[in-house]
Amino acid sequence: MDIKDHIRSIPDFPKPGINFYDISTLLRHPDAWQVTMGRMAKAISVWQPDVLAGIESRGFLTAAPLALKLGCGFVMVRKRGKLPGETISYSYDLEYGSDTIEIQADAVKPGQRVVIMDDLLATGGTAQAAVELFRKVGAEVVGVSAIIELTFLNGRSRLDVPVEALVQYDE
Ligand code: PRP
Ligand code: MG
Repeated sequence: MDIKDHIRSIPDFPKPGINFYDISTLLRHPDAWQVTMGRMAKAISVWQPDVLAGIESRGFLTAAPLALKLGCGFVMVRKRGKLPGETISYSYDLEYGSDTIEIQADAVKPGQRVVIMDDLLATGGTAQAAVELFRKVGAEVVGVSAIIELTFLNGRSRLDVPVEALVQYDE
């Protein structure tokens, strides 16, 4: 099965000149989603993770079902101000302005093997921020995994851990 057949490209969203790769069509197709989850599970299981960390919000869609499938814990990486209790945050630059993501301070135990999960790797800024967060709490980040990689944005080069993506787009 070609997963790309189930990913829709929507031009000029969210702004003119941006091509949005929409996974809604993949999510609503049970067979294609099952194949997607199976391939991601295969790719990340070799890293022997203890914890899968999903980046709010579309990263939850990949990390939560795969954590269940692989018998890993699931940890939420959330946007600023959403998590209760003691949190650790990391701010990173965007094209315009900046963004902050957070995890709970006790989200992982030191030395636990964490895979950062998302739907899409673009510039890699969000994934890199998540890597830094987990390092701050003493975890070992063993990889980054996404369904889609936008190769023309070179996100992979910003990351110093192995990266797995199921499909690539070069424009
Ligand atoms: C999108 C996507 C990734 C991130 C990739 O999330 O889901 O999380 O951008 O971009 P980067 O590699 O350039 O950092 P978005 O911020 O649109 O939010 P959402 O997941 O809540 O829809
Ligand atoms: Mg996202």
